[in-house]
Amino acid sequence: MSTLAFDAATSSRIETLYATPDAVRRRDAVRRMLDPRPGERVLDVGCGPGFLASEIAVLVGAGGAVHAVDQSESMLTLARRRCAAQPWVTIERGEAAGLVLPDESFDAALSVQVLEYVSDVEAALRSLFRALRPGGRLLLVDTDWASLVCASADAARMQRVLAAFDEHLADPHLPRRLPHLLVQAGFAAPRCEVLVPISTAFEADSFGAGIVELIHRFVPGRRGVTQAEADAWIDELRERSRRGLFFFSLNQYFFVAGRP
Ligand SMILES: C[S@@+](CC[C@H](N)C(=O)[O-])C[C@H]1O[C@@H](n2cnc3c(N)ncnc32)[C@H](O)[C@@H]1O
Repeated sequence: MSTLAFDAATSSRIETLYATPDAVRRRDAVRRMLDPRPGERVLDVGCGPGFLASEIAVLVGAGGAVHAVDQSESMLTLARRRCAAQPWVTIERGEAAGLVLPDESFDAALSVQVLEYVSDVEAALRSLFRALRPGGRLLLVDTDWASLVCASADAARMQRVLAAFDEHLADPHLPRRLPHLLVQAGFAAPRCEVLVPISTAFEADSFGAGIVELIHRFVPGRRGVTQAEADAWIDELRERSRRGLFFFSLNQYFFVAGRP
């Protein structure tokens, strides 16, 4: 079964989702934990629409550099547009599991909500390790999709829909494996934090509504979920919101590890 395709339509929806206050808070946490400094060279793997590349470019300044890669042409178009006024940001097509970069050429690297889509995570971590200089630091963020809590009167339907959505990526539970995989790749034991966006209304600028809409578009035809069932599922969530009964939360795990 195919995973989520980051085509033009999905890239544009993700760009909208990443403008929500919860996504802004996530980027605040990324910048705080990675702590990019003036003059540093930073690698952003799976840069998506380029919000982080652009924000980190402000912190490293024109004396530093940000190199952003992504496998999706439509994401690269959005990122190039966002970083157009920052010529010290370079944006290139690249595959996380096979980065072609000079060894030890970056002070810091990040990959936010990307590795869970990558089938060969070990190879991606090896690529990141090689690209960092000794003493360099890596920040990863990934979601454990088993932590998705969404209130519903129909628990069985919710379970079917979420099981179908697990097909949208390579490993819906990657955070549980990451501390071990990082150490195996040669990194020091990581520092871990969790961020839990919570939405209590189905509103245009809520992270919960954005994810629910992605799920609604993805699941029909998977694991026996029909379009009618997906429609009934999202209708119930909208109705719950009208009655003040909408509740959504999701754990996003942060890992910061140094290259010794
Ligand atoms: C959910 S978005 C996150 C974007 C960005 N890191 C952010 O936080 O704003 C995931 C991104 O990872 C990219 N991606 C997925 N698998 C990839 C791979 N194997 N190599 C490079 N990029 C990949 C997708 O194209 C997409 O842009």
